[in-house]
Amino acid sequence: MRTKVAIIGSGPAGLLLGRLLEIAGIETVILERRSQDYVLGRIRAGVLEQGTVELLDRTGVGEKLHAEGLVHEGVEFCFDGDRHRFNFRDLIDRTVTVYGQTEVTRDLMQARDGSGLTTIYEAEDVSLHDFAEEAPKVRYVKDGVEHQIACDFIAGCDGYHGVSRASVPQDALRTFERVYPFGWLGILVDKPPVADELIYAHHERGFALCSMRSPTRSRYYVQVPSSDRVEEWSDQRFWDELRRRVDGETADNLVTGPSIEKSIAPLRSFVAEPLRFGRLFLAGDAAHIVPPTGAKGLNLAASDVAALAEALIEFYGERSSAGIDGYSARVLSRIWKAERFSWWMTSILHTFPDTDPFGRRIQRAEFDYLRSSTAAARSLSENYTGLPF
Ligand code: FAD
Ligand code: DHB
Repeated sequence: MRTKVAIIGSGPAGLLLGRLLEIAGIETVILERRSQDYVLGRIRAGVLEQGTVELLDRTGVGEKLHAEGLVHEGVEFCFDGDRHRFNFRDLIDRTVTVYGQTEVTRDLMQARDGSGLTTIYEAEDVSLHDFAEEAPKVRYVKDGVEHQIACDFIAGCDGYHGVSRASVPQDALRTFERVYPFGWLGILVDKPPVADELIYAHHERGFALCSMRSPTRSRYYVQVPSSDRVEEWSDQRFWDELRRRVDGETADNLVTGPSIEKSIAPLRSFVAEPLRFGRLFLAGDAAHIVPPTGAKGLNLAASDVAALAEALIEFYGERSSAGIDGYSARVLSRIWKAERFSWWMTSILHTFPDTDPFGRRIQRAEFDYLRSSTAAARSLSENYTGLPF
Protein backbone atom coordinates (compact mmCIF):
# COMPACT_ATOMS: atom_id res chain seq x y z
CA MET A 1 0.00 0.00 0.00
CA ARG A 2 1.10 3.59 -0.60
CA THR A 3 -0.15 6.83 0.92
CA LYS A 4 1.09 10.38 1.43
CA VAL A 5 0.89 10.57 5.22
CA ALA A 6 0.80 7.49 7.45
CA ILE A 7 -0.78 8.46 10.77
CA ILE A 8 -0.07 6.28 13.79
CA GLY A 9 -2.91 6.42 16.34
CA SER A 10 -6.61 7.20 16.03
CA GLY A 11 -6.97 9.37 19.12
CA PRO A 12 -8.01 13.01 18.73
CA ALA A 13 -4.59 14.01 17.31
CA GLY A 14 -4.50 11.37 14.57
CA LEU A 15 -8.16 11.71 13.60
CA LEU A 16 -8.11 15.50 13.46
CA LEU A 17 -4.88 15.51 11.44
CA GLY A 18 -6.48 13.04 9.04
CA ARG A 19 -9.51 15.28 8.66
CA LEU A 20 -7.48 18.48 8.11
CA LEU A 21 -5.40 16.74 5.43
CA GLU A 22 -8.48 15.19 3.82
CA ILE A 23 -9.98 18.66 3.34
CA ALA A 24 -6.75 19.73 1.61
CA GLY A 25 -6.88 16.68 -0.65
CA ILE A 26 -3.92 14.93 0.99
CA GLU A 27 -4.32 11.18 1.31
CA THR A 28 -3.75 9.48 4.68
CA VAL A 29 -3.95 6.03 6.25
CA ILE A 30 -4.47 5.70 10.01
CA LEU A 31 -3.06 2.72 11.90
CA GLU A 32 -4.60 2.06 15.33
CA ARG A 33 -3.51 -0.65 17.74
CA ARG A 34 -6.90 -0.99 19.44
CA SER A 35 -10.41 -1.67 18.17
CA GLN A 36 -12.77 1.21 17.35
CA ASP A 37 -15.00 0.31 20.30
CA TYR A 38 -12.05 0.30 22.70
CA VAL A 39 -10.96 3.77 21.57
CA LEU A 40 -14.54 5.05 21.99
CA GLY A 41 -14.86 3.48 25.42
CA ARG A 42 -12.03 5.49 26.99
CA ILE A 43 -13.29 8.28 29.22
CA ARG A 44 -10.84 11.15 29.17
CA ALA A 45 -10.90 14.91 28.76
CA GLY A 46 -14.02 17.06 28.81
CA VAL A 47 -13.20 20.73 28.21
CA LEU A 48 -12.60 22.25 24.77
CA GLU A 49 -10.88 25.59 24.36
CA GLN A 50 -12.60 28.09 22.07
CA GLY A 51 -9.81 27.63 19.49
CA THR A 52 -10.38 23.86 19.46
CA VAL A 53 -14.12 24.38 18.89
CA GLU A 54 -13.35 26.78 16.04
CA LEU A 55 -10.94 24.26 14.51
CA LEU A 56 -13.51 21.44 14.70
CA ASP A 57 -16.03 23.80 13.09
CA ARG A 58 -13.63 24.50 10.24
CA THR A 59 -13.32 20.79 9.57
CA GLY A 60 -17.10 20.38 9.32
CA VAL A 61 -17.57 18.18 12.39
CA GLY A 62 -19.01 20.84 14.72
CA GLU A 63 -22.71 20.14 14.32
CA LYS A 64 -23.23 17.73 17.23
CA LEU A 65 -20.71 19.66 19.31
CA HIS A 66 -22.84 22.80 19.01
CA ALA A 67 -26.10 20.91 19.56
CA GLU A 68 -24.94 19.04 22.67
CA GLY A 69 -21.83 20.85 23.99
CA LEU A 70 -22.28 23.12 27.00
CA VAL A 71 -20.79 26.60 26.56
CA HIS A 72 -19.26 27.78 29.85
CA GLU A 73 -18.60 31.44 30.41
CA GLY A 74 -16.69 30.93 33.62
CA VAL A 75 -15.21 28.54 36.13
CA GLU A 76 -15.15 28.42 39.93
CA PHE A 77 -12.27 27.89 42.33
CA CYS A 78 -13.01 26.80 45.88
CA PHE A 79 -10.27 27.22 48.47
CA ASP A 80 -10.91 25.61 51.83
CA GLY A 81 -14.62 26.26 51.33
CA ASP A 82 -14.38 29.83 49.92
CA ARG A 83 -15.65 30.02 46.35
CA HIS A 84 -14.82 32.49 43.62
CA ARG A 85 -16.08 32.58 40.06
CA PHE A 86 -13.87 33.71 37.18
CA ASN A 87 -16.11 35.18 34.49
CA PHE A 88 -14.29 34.55 31.21
CA ARG A 89 -16.89 36.43 29.21
CA ASP A 90 -16.45 39.64 31.24
CA LEU A 91 -12.70 39.26 31.70
CA ILE A 92 -11.57 38.40 28.17
CA ASP A 93 -14.73 37.71 26.13
CA ARG A 94 -13.85 34.04 25.58
CA THR A 95 -15.58 30.78 26.56
CA VAL A 96 -14.89 27.05 26.79
CA THR A 97 -17.20 24.21 25.76
CA VAL A 98 -17.81 21.07 27.78
CA TYR A 99 -17.96 18.18 25.30
CA GLY A 100 -16.34 14.84 26.00
CA GLN A 101 -13.25 13.58 24.21
CA THR A 102 -15.23 10.44 23.44
CA GLU A 103 -17.73 12.53 21.47
CA VAL A 104 -15.01 14.43 19.61
CA THR A 105 -13.45 11.10 18.68
CA ARG A 106 -16.78 9.63 17.57
CA ASP A 107 -17.61 12.69 15.41
CA LEU A 108 -14.20 12.54 13.70
CA MET A 109 -14.42 8.76 13.18
CA GLN A 110 -17.87 9.09 11.62
CA ALA A 111 -16.67 11.82 9.28
CA ARG A 112 -13.68 9.69 8.25
CA ASP A 113 -15.81 6.58 7.73
CA GLY A 114 -18.31 8.68 5.74
CA SER A 115 -15.52 9.80 3.41
CA GLY A 116 -14.48 6.18 2.88
CA LEU A 117 -10.93 6.78 4.14
CA THR A 118 -8.77 3.96 5.45
CA THR A 119 -8.30 3.35 9.16
CA ILE A 120 -6.76 0.03 10.11
CA TYR A 121 -7.87 -0.92 13.61
CA GLU A 122 -6.20 -3.67 15.64
CA ALA A 123 -2.96 -3.15 13.74
CA GLU A 124 -0.33 -5.10 15.70
CA ASP A 125 3.45 -4.66 15.91
CA VAL A 126 3.46 -1.31 14.14
CA SER A 127 7.04 -0.33 13.28
CA LEU A 128 8.52 2.78 11.63
CA HIS A 129 11.34 2.59 9.05
CA ASP A 130 13.61 4.87 7.00
CA PHE A 131 12.11 8.13 8.25
CA ALA A 132 15.55 9.74 8.22
CA GLU A 133 15.43 9.36 4.42
CA GLU A 134 13.03 10.42 1.67
CA ALA A 135 10.94 7.24 1.53
CA PRO A 136 9.70 6.17 4.97
CA LYS A 137 7.74 2.98 5.53
CA VAL A 138 5.44 1.66 8.22
CA ARG A 139 5.00 -2.06 8.82
CA TYR A 140 2.24 -3.73 10.82
CA VAL A 141 0.59 -7.08 11.31
CA LYS A 142 -3.14 -7.54 10.81
CA ASP A 143 -4.84 -10.91 11.38
CA GLY A 144 -1.43 -12.55 11.46
CA VAL A 145 -0.32 -11.14 8.08
CA GLU A 146 2.50 -8.56 7.77
CA HIS A 147 1.83 -5.44 5.67
CA GLN A 148 3.88 -2.44 4.59
CA ILE A 149 2.80 1.11 3.81
CA ALA A 150 5.15 3.29 1.77
CA CYS A 151 4.60 7.00 2.44
CA ASP A 152 6.06 10.52 2.22
CA PHE A 153 5.66 11.31 5.92
CA ILE A 154 4.79 9.60 9.20
CA ALA A 155 2.76 11.42 11.86
CA GLY A 156 3.32 9.91 15.32
CA CYS A 157 -0.04 10.55 17.03
CA ASP A 158 0.08 7.41 19.16
CA GLY A 159 0.07 8.82 22.67
CA TYR A 160 2.59 8.66 25.49
CA HIS A 161 3.12 4.87 25.30
CA GLY A 162 3.20 4.69 21.51
CA VAL A 163 5.85 3.36 19.17
CA SER A 164 6.65 6.62 17.33
CA ARG A 165 8.66 8.45 20.00
CA ALA A 166 10.27 5.15 20.98
CA SER A 167 11.50 4.73 17.38
CA VAL A 168 13.60 7.89 17.50
CA PRO A 169 17.28 7.27 18.33
CA GLN A 170 17.67 8.13 22.00
CA ASP A 171 20.55 10.56 21.41
CA ALA A 172 18.36 12.59 19.02
CA LEU A 173 15.78 13.31 21.71
CA ARG A 174 15.84 15.39 24.89
CA THR A 175 13.05 14.83 27.40
CA PHE A 176 11.85 16.92 30.32
CA GLU A 177 9.70 15.37 32.99
CA ARG A 178 8.01 15.87 36.33
CA VAL A 179 6.04 13.06 37.93
CA TYR A 180 3.56 14.04 40.67
CA PRO A 181 3.12 11.79 43.69
CA PHE A 182 -0.66 11.56 43.22
CA GLY A 183 -3.32 10.72 40.69
CA TRP A 184 -6.93 11.64 39.96
CA LEU A 185 -9.62 9.17 40.84
CA GLY A 186 -12.51 9.95 38.49
CA ILE A 187 -16.09 8.74 38.37
CA LEU A 188 -18.81 9.17 35.81
CA VAL A 189 -22.39 9.12 37.05
CA ASP A 190 -25.80 9.50 35.40
CA LYS A 191 -26.99 12.26 37.72
CA PRO A 192 -27.28 16.02 37.10
CA PRO A 193 -24.09 18.02 37.82
CA VAL A 194 -23.91 19.79 41.16
CA ALA A 195 -23.40 23.20 39.53
CA ASP A 196 -23.78 24.87 36.13
CA GLU A 197 -20.02 25.34 35.79
CA LEU A 198 -16.87 23.45 36.84
CA ILE A 199 -15.63 23.78 40.42
CA TYR A 200 -11.89 23.24 41.04
CA ALA A 201 -11.46 22.75 44.80
CA HIS A 202 -8.35 22.97 46.93
CA HIS A 203 -8.53 21.35 50.36
CA GLU A 204 -5.99 20.21 52.91
CA ARG A 205 -7.19 16.62 52.27
CA GLY A 206 -6.48 17.08 48.57
CA PHE A 207 -7.82 18.49 45.32
CA ALA A 208 -11.33 17.80 43.98
CA LEU A 209 -13.06 18.69 40.71
CA CYS A 210 -16.77 18.80 39.95
CA SER A 211 -17.26 18.53 36.21
CA MET A 212 -19.89 17.21 33.81
CA ARG A 213 -20.58 15.75 30.41
CA SER A 214 -24.22 16.84 29.95
CA PRO A 215 -27.16 18.18 32.02
CA THR A 216 -27.78 14.60 33.19
CA ARG A 217 -24.26 13.17 33.39
CA SER A 218 -21.59 14.28 35.88
CA ARG A 219 -17.86 13.70 36.14
CA TYR A 220 -16.11 14.11 39.50
CA TYR A 221 -12.48 13.70 40.54
CA VAL A 222 -10.58 13.54 43.82
CA GLN A 223 -6.81 13.59 44.28
CA VAL A 224 -5.50 10.25 45.62
CA PRO A 225 -1.97 9.02 46.43
CA SER A 226 -0.23 7.32 43.48
CA SER A 227 -0.22 4.09 45.45
CA ASP A 228 -4.06 3.89 45.68
CA ARG A 229 -5.87 1.28 43.61
CA VAL A 230 -9.34 1.85 42.23
CA GLU A 231 -10.70 -1.26 44.02
CA GLU A 232 -10.00 0.49 47.31
CA TRP A 233 -12.57 3.15 46.43
CA SER A 234 -16.22 2.19 46.81
CA ASP A 235 -18.71 4.73 45.46
CA GLN A 236 -19.69 5.58 49.03
CA ARG A 237 -16.09 6.30 50.01
CA PHE A 238 -15.70 8.50 46.92
CA TRP A 239 -18.81 10.59 47.68
CA ASP A 240 -17.83 10.98 51.34
CA GLU A 241 -14.37 12.19 50.38
CA LEU A 242 -15.65 14.57 47.69
CA ARG A 243 -18.13 16.14 50.16
CA ARG A 244 -15.33 16.83 52.64
CA ARG A 245 -13.26 18.71 50.05
CA VAL A 246 -15.89 21.10 48.67
CA ASP A 247 -17.86 23.94 50.30
CA GLY A 248 -20.98 23.20 52.36
CA GLU A 249 -23.46 24.31 49.69
CA THR A 250 -21.87 22.10 47.04
CA ALA A 251 -21.68 19.17 49.45
CA ASP A 252 -25.39 19.57 50.27
CA ASN A 253 -26.42 19.83 46.60
CA LEU A 254 -24.46 16.82 45.33
CA VAL A 255 -26.74 14.31 43.62
CA THR A 256 -25.04 10.96 44.07
CA GLY A 257 -25.65 7.64 42.39
CA PRO A 258 -23.88 4.51 41.22
CA SER A 259 -20.76 5.17 39.16
CA ILE A 260 -20.82 4.00 35.54
CA GLU A 261 -17.04 4.40 35.20
CA LYS A 262 -14.29 4.70 37.76
CA SER A 263 -10.56 4.97 37.09
CA ILE A 264 -7.34 6.51 38.36
CA ALA A 265 -5.18 8.65 36.04
CA PRO A 266 -1.59 9.41 37.04
CA LEU A 267 -0.32 13.00 36.83
CA ARG A 268 2.77 13.83 34.83
CA SER A 269 4.39 16.74 33.00
CA PHE A 270 6.53 15.66 30.05
CA VAL A 271 7.95 17.22 26.91
CA ALA A 272 10.14 15.69 24.20
CA GLU A 273 12.30 17.89 21.98
CA PRO A 274 12.49 18.21 19.04
CA LEU A 275 9.27 16.98 17.43
CA ARG A 276 10.57 16.30 13.94
CA PHE A 277 13.10 13.70 12.84
CA GLY A 278 13.51 13.77 9.08
CA ARG A 279 10.10 12.68 7.83
CA LEU A 280 8.63 11.69 11.19
CA PHE A 281 6.65 14.18 13.29
CA LEU A 282 5.36 13.77 16.83
CA ALA A 283 2.07 15.37 17.90
CA GLY A 284 -0.28 15.22 20.90
CA ASP A 285 0.47 12.94 23.85
CA ALA A 286 3.25 11.25 21.84
CA ALA A 287 5.13 14.55 22.17
CA HIS A 288 4.06 15.81 25.58
CA ILE A 289 1.92 15.13 28.65
CA VAL A 290 0.32 17.68 30.95
CA PRO A 291 -1.33 17.00 34.29
CA PRO A 292 -5.11 17.26 33.67
CA THR A 293 -5.63 20.24 36.01
CA GLY A 294 -5.60 22.88 33.26
CA ALA A 295 -7.71 20.74 30.87
CA LYS A 296 -5.03 21.17 28.23
CA GLY A 297 -4.17 17.62 26.96
CA LEU A 298 -6.76 17.28 24.24
CA ASN A 299 -6.52 20.95 23.30
CA LEU A 300 -2.76 20.77 22.84
CA ALA A 301 -3.18 17.74 20.62
CA ALA A 302 -5.53 19.86 18.47
CA SER A 303 -3.16 22.83 18.21
CA ASP A 304 -0.20 20.55 17.35
CA VAL A 305 -1.99 18.92 14.46
CA ALA A 306 -3.39 22.24 13.22
CA ALA A 307 0.22 23.40 12.83
CA LEU A 308 1.36 20.07 11.35
CA ALA A 309 -1.45 20.06 8.81
CA GLU A 310 -0.58 23.61 7.78
CA ALA A 311 3.06 22.62 7.30
CA LEU A 312 2.20 19.55 5.22
CA ILE A 313 -0.32 21.47 3.11
CA GLU A 314 2.39 24.05 2.42
CA PHE A 315 4.78 21.25 1.44
CA TYR A 316 2.40 19.65 -1.04
CA GLY A 317 0.88 22.92 -2.31
CA GLU A 318 3.95 25.11 -2.65
CA ARG A 319 6.75 22.51 -2.63
CA SER A 320 8.19 24.48 0.30
CA SER A 321 9.69 22.75 3.31
CA ALA A 322 9.70 25.95 5.42
CA GLY A 323 6.61 24.82 7.34
CA ILE A 324 7.85 21.35 8.15
CA ASP A 325 11.27 22.74 9.05
CA GLY A 326 9.65 25.17 11.49
CA TYR A 327 7.04 22.76 12.92
CA SER A 328 8.93 21.71 16.02
CA ALA A 329 9.95 25.19 17.20
CA ARG A 330 6.52 26.58 16.42
CA VAL A 331 4.51 24.07 18.41
CA LEU A 332 7.00 23.77 21.28
CA SER A 333 6.55 27.44 22.07
CA ARG A 334 2.81 26.92 22.68
CA ILE A 335 3.36 23.52 24.33
CA TRP A 336 5.68 24.99 26.97
CA LYS A 337 3.17 27.72 27.81
CA ALA A 338 0.48 25.05 28.34
CA GLU A 339 2.97 22.99 30.38
CA ARG A 340 3.62 26.04 32.55
CA PHE A 341 -0.08 26.71 33.09
CA SER A 342 -0.92 23.06 33.85
CA TRP A 343 1.99 22.79 36.29
CA TRP A 344 0.95 26.05 37.98
CA MET A 345 -2.74 25.03 38.30
CA THR A 346 -1.57 21.69 39.70
CA SER A 347 0.81 23.38 42.15
CA ILE A 348 -1.74 25.74 43.64
CA LEU A 349 -4.70 23.35 43.79
CA HIS A 350 -3.21 20.07 45.08
CA THR A 351 -1.90 19.05 48.45
CA PHE A 352 1.64 17.69 48.08
CA PRO A 353 3.10 15.25 50.61
CA ASP A 354 5.74 17.88 51.44
CA THR A 355 3.40 20.90 51.51
CA ASP A 356 4.39 22.62 54.78
CA PRO A 357 2.52 25.48 56.50
CA PHE A 358 4.54 27.99 54.46
CA GLY A 359 3.57 26.27 51.21
CA ARG A 360 -0.08 26.25 52.26
CA ARG A 361 -0.02 29.99 52.93
CA ILE A 362 1.54 30.58 49.50
CA GLN A 363 -1.26 28.53 47.86
CA ARG A 364 -3.83 30.59 49.75
CA ALA A 365 -2.07 33.82 48.71
CA GLU A 366 -2.28 32.71 45.07
CA PHE A 367 -6.05 32.27 45.44
CA ASP A 368 -6.48 35.60 47.24
CA TYR A 369 -4.42 37.33 44.55
CA LEU A 370 -6.42 35.72 41.75
CA ARG A 371 -9.73 36.84 43.22
CA SER A 372 -8.57 40.38 44.05
CA SER A 373 -6.63 41.26 40.90
CA THR A 374 -8.32 41.66 37.51
CA ALA A 375 -4.91 41.28 35.84
CA ALA A 376 -4.34 37.93 37.56
CA ALA A 377 -7.89 36.76 36.79
CA ARG A 378 -7.46 37.75 33.14
CA SER A 379 -4.21 35.81 32.95
CA LEU A 380 -5.92 32.71 34.36
CA SER A 381 -8.84 33.12 31.94
CA GLU A 382 -6.60 33.67 28.92
CA ASN A 383 -4.66 30.48 29.63
CA TYR A 384 -7.68 28.36 30.60
CA THR A 385 -9.73 29.29 27.53
CA GLY A 386 -6.61 28.76 25.41
CA LEU A 387 -3.73 30.84 24.07
CA PRO A 388 -3.88 31.64 20.35
CA PHE A 389 -3.11 28.70 18.02
P1 FAD B 1 -4.37 9.41 22.57
O1 FAD B 1 -5.75 9.87 22.82
O2 FAD B 1 -3.66 8.68 23.63
O3 FAD B 1 -4.39 8.56 21.25
C1 FAD B 1 -3.31 7.77 20.83
C2 FAD B 1 -3.82 6.57 20.06
O4 FAD B 1 -2.71 5.83 19.58
C3 FAD B 1 -4.62 5.62 20.93
O5 FAD B 1 -5.86 5.34 20.32
C4 FAD B 1 -3.74 4.40 21.06
O6 FAD B 1 -4.48 3.20 21.17
C5 FAD B 1 -2.96 4.45 19.76
N1 FAD B 1 -1.68 3.75 19.83
C6 FAD B 1 -0.81 3.69 20.86
N2 FAD B 1 0.26 2.94 20.55
C7 FAD B 1 0.08 2.54 19.27
C8 FAD B 1 0.84 1.72 18.40
N3 FAD B 1 2.00 1.21 18.78
N4 FAD B 1 0.36 1.49 17.16
C9 FAD B 1 -0.83 2.03 16.76
N5 FAD B 1 -1.60 2.80 17.56
C10 FAD B 1 -1.15 3.06 18.81
N6 FAD B 1 -6.88 15.37 29.53
C11 FAD B 1 -7.63 16.31 30.05
O7 FAD B 1 -7.55 17.46 29.62
N7 FAD B 1 -8.54 15.98 31.03
C12 FAD B 1 -8.68 14.70 31.52
O8 FAD B 1 -9.50 14.43 32.37
C13 FAD B 1 -7.86 13.72 31.00
N8 FAD B 1 -7.94 12.45 31.45
C14 FAD B 1 -7.08 11.50 30.94
C15 FAD B 1 -7.12 10.20 31.43
C16 FAD B 1 -6.24 9.24 30.94
C17 FAD B 1 -6.27 7.82 31.51
C18 FAD B 1 -5.31 9.59 29.93
C19 FAD B 1 -4.32 8.56 29.39
C20 FAD B 1 -5.29 10.90 29.43
C21 FAD B 1 -6.16 11.86 29.93
N9 FAD B 1 -6.17 13.17 29.45
C22 FAD B 1 -6.96 14.10 29.98
C23 FAD B 1 -5.32 13.60 28.39
C24 FAD B 1 -6.04 13.61 27.04
O9 FAD B 1 -6.99 12.59 27.01
C25 FAD B 1 -4.96 13.41 26.00
O10 FAD B 1 -4.12 14.56 26.04
C26 FAD B 1 -5.49 13.19 24.60
O11 FAD B 1 -6.12 11.94 24.51
C27 FAD B 1 -4.34 13.26 23.60
O12 FAD B 1 -4.74 12.80 22.35
P2 FAD B 1 -3.76 11.99 21.42
O13 FAD B 1 -4.54 11.73 20.19
O14 FAD B 1 -2.47 12.71 21.33
O15 FAD B 1 -3.42 10.66 22.20
C1 DHB C 1 -12.38 17.42 33.09
C2 DHB C 1 -11.09 17.02 33.13
C3 DHB C 1 -10.11 17.95 33.41
O1 DHB C 1 -8.83 17.57 33.43
C4 DHB C 1 -10.41 19.26 33.67
O2 DHB C 1 -9.43 20.13 33.98
C5 DHB C 1 -11.71 19.66 33.61
C6 DHB C 1 -12.71 18.72 33.32
C7 DHB C 1 -13.42 16.42 32.79
O3 DHB C 1 -13.09 15.26 32.58
O4 DHB C 1 -14.61 16.79 32.80
